[in-house]
Amino acid sequence: MADASYDILFIGAGPGGYTGAIRAAQLGFKTAVVEKSPGLGGTCTNVGCIPSKALLHSSELFYEAGHGFAKHGIKIAAPELDLPTMMAHKQSVVASSNKGIEFLFKKNKIDWLKGTGKLLGGGKVEVTGPDGAKSTATAKHIVIATGSDVMPLRGIEIDEKSIVSSTGALVLGAVPKSMVVIGGGVIGLELGSVWSRLGAEVTVVEFLDRILPTNDGEVSKQMQRILERQGIKFRLGMKVTAAKKAKSGVSLSMEPAKGGAAETLDVDVVLVSIGRRPYADGLGLDAAGVQLDDKGRIKTDGHFATTAAGIYAIGDVIAGPMLAHKAEEEGAVLAELLAGQKPHINPDAIPAVVYTWPEVASVGKTEEELKAANIPYKIGKFPFSANARARAMMATDGFVKILEDQRTKRVIGCHIIGPNAGDLLAEVTAAIEYGASAEDIARVCHSHPTLTEAVKEAALAVDGRTINM
Ligand code: FAD
Ligand code: NAI
Repeated sequence: MADASYDILFIGAGPGGYTGAIRAAQLGFKTAVVEKSPGLGGTCTNVGCIPSKALLHSSELFYEAGHGFAKHGIKIAAPELDLPTMMAHKQSVVASSNKGIEFLFKKNKIDWLKGTGKLLGGGKVEVTGPDGAKSTATAKHIVIATGSDVMPLRGIEIDEKSIVSSTGALVLGAVPKSMVVIGGGVIGLELGSVWSRLGAEVTVVEFLDRILPTNDGEVSKQMQRILERQGIKFRLGMKVTAAKKAKSGVSLSMEPAKGGAAETLDVDVVLVSIGRRPYADGLGLDAAGVQLDDKGRIKTDGHFATTAAGIYAIGDVIAGPMLAHKAEEEGAVLAELLAGQKPHINPDAIPAVVYTWPEVASVGKTEEELKAANIPYKIGKFPFSANARARAMMATDGFVKILEDQRTKRVIGCHIIGPNAGDLLAEVTAAIEYGASAEDIARVCHSHPTLTEAVKEAALAVDGRTINM
């Protein structure tokens, strides 16, 4: 597809780039996407959301078969792990998602320019194909959607075998006897859960004095207790200073973050999950006049315009939470802005879910943020132990907590630990988006017996009138 010319060209076919491209094509733009990976869908589809959720679901079933069935009166022999089949299932989900996006590109007449894109300035992008051949494409609007990459930890070399990033942790060939996860954030808890359920002794080493540091504090505390009951160990306030590959496994050195005696731990596998960094390597930003902000992200003006005329950026490579649905919204909204529409994204209504068991789901402000900003708020809380459906499921850990701004009577935050918390959160996210009060949620008729009733009860609790507690 050499020297072609487009209305909009996206560099990167992750959730941001591919969603933006589809929306742009729907709006009548001649659209292309430059993608260097052989599979469309970016980090999320290839080495992120999709494969991790496949392994989380499969490992959850394995764990349930071994630990949960008997309590429901189902007697089976101890389940046997068939890791290659579990991995093959995961890979087939990735492949079908890749194919699905390719189909959508064809359906919407979007050109996939296979190769690595580089900004040349003047509306031009150079594409270096897998065989090294170079071509140029021109576009009125160029969108950088190059995503993010693993954040390295100084002094620790990731070999994706015994010292792995999330990418290596998704393809381990055997269950390690022991695993240390560096970083008690989202990846650490999700992938730590996978390998713990499959039989590894997992220890999470976290620099701060709490896990999930951006979540509501009460959620972090309770989630740690729940995961400890599942067998995961936590070493909080510890910093890893070195990881050396030994004959078999890794020798890990760590010490208290506030100072103190160092210690060494010998483990089979170390997972480094201390965050991700925006990725725009080799993109030719300088030549094109695209500037970065103080955190190394592409600087944008709030409407995705970079410092270079005609060049925009979306997704993980710009400010905001590194989440697939945030990138998707930005892609679609940018296409609509370029078409002259007036779409909007509400940064206070972007949900976030940790797909552990039980799940952790949150939207809007935490109690800590409200206190720091001196915003008066009311809390409505309801535990799943008081929800009949959760009791039937034997999934009574956790609660729904709704926070309402006392000045405006609007719901301003919601934090859930519980079964299907990610799905339950959608209702509250919609409520925040529409400026609803807790009473508005409470007045909606919820089916019985469902987990959603816990959301209704938490909303009722804001005004001190729960029915079932
Ligand atoms: P990316 O998905 O990173 O896509 C960028 C694309 O650009 C890539 O395909 C890359 O190959 C391509 N590219 C880069 N440079 C060039 C170039 N010069 N030329 C051509 N192509 C280029 N988020 C969630 O919301 N839910 C989850 O459950 C979830 N789970 C995750 C699990 C893991 C293990 C990880 C690592 C991440 C997870 N995320 C999750 C985060 C999510 O993957 C990202 O937020 C999302 O992928 C960002 O989308 P993006 O379009 O900005 O970039
Ligand atoms: P994270 O930012 O969620 O967590 C990193 C953790 O590592 C933090 O708790 C931090 O305090 C800790 N840490 C930092 N440096 C450390 C050090 N030297 N030693 C010990 N601990 C240290 O990052 P994570 O888990 O790597 O995930 C990256 C991104 O991917 C996140 O921003 C997340 O949004 C996205 N993601 C989203 C998922 C989802 O939506 N379910 C799943 C997986 C990833």
